[in-house]
Amino acid sequence: MANYDVIIIGSGPGGYVCAIRCAQLGLKTACVEGRETLGGTCLNVGCIPSKALLHSSHMLHEAEHNFAAMGLKGKSPSVDWKQMLSYKDDTIATNTKGIEFLFKKNKIDWLKGWGSIPAPGKVKVGDEVHEAKHIVIASGSETSSLPGVEVDEKVVVTSTGALELGKLPKKMVVIGAGVIGLELGSVYSRLGAEVTVIEYLDAITPGMDGEVQKTFQRILKKQGLTFVMGAAVQKTDATKTKAKVTYTLRKDDSEHQIEADTVLVATGRKPFVDGLGLDALGVKLTDRGQVAVDDQWQTNIKGIHAIGDCITGPMLAHKAEDEGMAVAEVLAGKHGHVNYGVIPSVIYTHPEVASVGQTEQQLKDSGRAYKTGKFSFMGNGRAKANFAADGFVKILADKETDRILGAHIIGPSAGELIHEICVAMEFGASAQDLALTCHAHPTYSEAVREAALACGDGPIHA
Ligand code: NAI
Repeated sequence: MANYDVIIIGSGPGGYVCAIRCAQLGLKTACVEGRETLGGTCLNVGCIPSKALLHSSHMLHEAEHNFAAMGLKGKSPSVDWKQMLSYKDDTIATNTKGIEFLFKKNKIDWLKGWGSIPAPGKVKVGDEVHEAKHIVIASGSETSSLPGVEVDEKVVVTSTGALELGKLPKKMVVIGAGVIGLELGSVYSRLGAEVTVIEYLDAITPGMDGEVQKTFQRILKKQGLTFVMGAAVQKTDATKTKAKVTYTLRKDDSEHQIEADTVLVATGRKPFVDGLGLDALGVKLTDRGQVAVDDQWQTNIKGIHAIGDCITGPMLAHKAEDEGMAVAEVLAGKHGHVNYGVIPSVIYTHPEVASVGQTEQQLKDSGRAYKTGKFSFMGNGRAKANFAADGFVKILADKETDRILGAHIIGPSAGELIHEICVAMEFGASAQDLALTCHAHPTYSEAVREAALACGDGPIHA
């Protein structure tokens, strides 16, 4: 048994980042992880593997659709699914081993096994009980279940099963037009599957800017995805090789069925806190099953903190990372802070979708007077050269002060472009500050500047 300053339960982006920052700040730190490898959902079965498949399937799409026009002639590549999966597995391995290396470098003990908290200040892993001044719960989230839908991870899969299908599906049904459904739906559509997305609401990607939602859906349709909107999935009936999905349309309650060889359930995730012993400890949960914390990420039990997907807020790896760093600062007696108003969100389809801050709807609802600066990638030289001119940048700024309140981008490298706006927002910048900043030519970033110019006297290339 060892005594620690901090024991963190879970080694996902929240937990491992927290552990590294704790160690850097001089705290004796351990991290509990029950998986074979570090990195949690994100590195093992989430963000990182899905990005490998998004990248390889995008390369295929480029070869099939744009190479000839660029003067690159020859047969398009064919898909070696086994090799693609092994590329994905190698990507996971280099990343998870990287975290293991960082743990060693920072002298963080990896307590292997599933942890529980038998009492404040104690963490049980296997038969051993370790003591710590502070405990941080970073146990993440799991796929939420859908009544009538039984997941077997072969035919009816969550994102985990969708990242290791035995063979490529010919027909795929995706339940839920959220981030996971559209990212993985895109992958299999590009790899040749006929993909139908069934969504309960009337718009895809709930919570996104309305104009982005419409443009995004139009582009995905053009790429071959089919959408059934306003439809509630009732059940799936699966055999060993295919499944029948039954759904009702909300507008008239009519019942419909569709068959597929793979069904991806992507209807959201819920906090994962099973087995931690929170009930017995009396740790308070919210009515949505999240661990309730105060503004310093402490639960109602002194010395027990929680961060990431298992508390409130968007279930995003980088939000968890920020909370991990902030709570480490707090535990080291410093000041920890997360600006929840400036957390970007990105969908890694092609084109990418990215947003930060408030949407027009939120500004309207709050009665804030705002102005909009919008610029289409059609006016961006670099985007046109790269056959990537679909989409736009939209900046929302306060009508009086010109302060940037939000930005919404659909287009090439949107997930990278959004960060200059995040930095600007952190500094309380105005749209004019962005507009007066010299942007290299020719870059996609010029579209951000043009959108900022559109908040003032107007863009140049519109
Ligand atoms: P989501 O909450 O983004 O979307 C779920 C969708 O399913 C919603 O549009 C909802 O209306 C729909 N739905 C729910 N029940 C339904 C039913 N019975 N029939 C038809 N449609 C139904 O959830 P998702 O995509 O599973 O993602 C889970 C979490 O993981 C999210 O918080 C997301 O932010 C995070 N994530 C983030 C990624 C990123 O940042 N790129 C990548 C993957 C996941």
